Amino acid sequence: MKLVFLGPPGAGKGTLAAKAVELLQIPHISTGAIFRAAIAARTPLGIKVKEIIDAGKLVDDETTIALVRERLAAEDAQKGYILDGFPRTIAQADALDSFSKVDRVVNFDIPDGAVIERLSGRRVCKNCGANYHILFTKPKTEGRCDLCGGELYTRDDDQSDAIQRRLEVYRAQTAPLIDYYRGKGLLVDVDARPAVDQVIENFRKALHL
Ligand code: AP5
Repeated sequence: MKLVFLGPPGAGKGTLAAKAVELLQIPHISTGAIFRAAIAARTPLGIKVKEIIDAGKLVDDETTIALVRERLAAEDAQKGYILDGFPRTIAQADALDSFSKVDRVVNFDIPDGAVIERLSGRRVCKNCGANYHILFTKPKTEGRCDLCGGELYTRDDDQSDAIQRRLEVYRAQTAPLIDYYRGKGLLVDVDARPAVDQVIENFRKALHL
């Protein structure tokens, strides 16, 4: 199954994708995670995108489309994938359509207040990228990842200025994709407000899994 996860920053796309890959046995491809790995490794791509991402702006379409096109050509993506954070603009959606046909686009529906609460309390593992929250999904040991013991940190783009910017960018550039995909008959809405287990249940029902 070829899926796109669409929704505002902090809707829980990455959290649900980590669970859905176990269910569907397909790779989770997050453009944000690919960029963060490049930044951590100080590759030319990472150096190019660091300031843009920290400020909560979008990386240019050309760079992002080339990255996804290459990733989707890999062997493990042939049987299906979860694309998390791509496409984010109409130009990216048109490009995706030219090199891969998605089966469903899952739209995570959540109000801004909940987004701000989730992002300001998020902690991420430096080592494996697993997500936690200081109130909702606490690690067993404070500051350490349950999965690999790595150190937990706050993303630079989870500072309040960057959160506001990301929400503005989402409304202006990404939210139009809801109507774009609804018009193609591909959109499935999932209520992302409840606790994680309930959102997974909502997702399973919406996709008849
Ligand atoms: P990216 O990493 O994709 O960020 P995002 O879309 O803003 O999404 P987030 O990772 O912030 O949130 P999420 O929805 O995955 O929520 P999560 O599961 O972590 O992109 C980062 C940047 O890279 C962009 O700003 C841009 O600069 C660049 N970029 C990426 N893709 C691009 C593209 N296509 N084009 C151009 N630029 C691009 O959950 C959030 C928190 O809530 C966590 O703490 C979690 O534990 C908690 N939580 C999750 N679900 C629940 C729940 N149900 N109940 C309670 N808490 C929950």
